[in-house]
Amino acid sequence: MSIALFPAGLDTAPLAAIHAQCFPDAWSAKAIADLLTMPGTFAFAAPEGFALARAAGGEAEILTLAVLPEARRYGIGSTLVSEAASHAAKLGAQTLFLEVAAGNLAARTLYRRLGLTETATRKGYYTAGRQTPEDALILSSALPLSPLGKSPPAG
Ligand SMILES: CC(C)(COP(=O)(O)OP(=O)(O)OC[C@H]1O[C@@H](n2cnc3c(N)ncnc32)[C@H](O)[C@@H]1OP(=O)(O)O)[C@@H](O)C(=O)NCCC(=O)NCCS
Repeated sequence: MSIALFPAGLDTAPLAAIHAQCFPDAWSAKAIADLLTMPGTFAFAAPEGFALARAAGGEAEILTLAVLPEARRYGIGSTLVSEAASHAAKLGAQTLFLEVAAGNLAARTLYRRLGLTETATRKGYYTAGRQTPEDALILSSALPLSPLGKSPPAG
């Protein structure tokens, strides 16, 4: 698994191509590039997936997470979120939050195993590609993450 910080200025078309295979409301290469020009915004990427995140004011947010269908269940998604969380902590973030669709059990399980917990619900938040709106759950955790089954570092 080769996962690295996505270099500033690199062509974001491969990220957009991955996103398009993962979401009904795909983000364009330009939209991703524009996000990456915003202060505190960064991505970790592998050939099979990426996580885009922003750290500002002591808080970090996972803006999107996508792994190609054929590359799932190999730990790529978890590693992308873990790397993004570590990087955000280095940028000064003390907490991490994100939104996930209530029906997205794969992502909810991944995040729960990384130690994120539900803190709020946004009713009917998601509409793209759906016949009926779906709730968004807000998940959060202190940084560094404390994945389930692992003790937080002493001290
Ligand atoms: C969610 C997503 C990023 C997971 O990526 P991944 O690389 O498969 O994740 P991991 O391999 O790290 O999975 C970690 C754990 O999450 C859980 N999990 C992941 N996918 C799952 C699924 N389809 N069903 C049940 N549990 C799942 C499992 O507990 C898994 O561990 P295991 O494989 O040892 O059982 C990927 O499915 C995806 O891109 N989905 C579409 C886009 C999306 O929903 N993004 C998140 C939006 S918030």
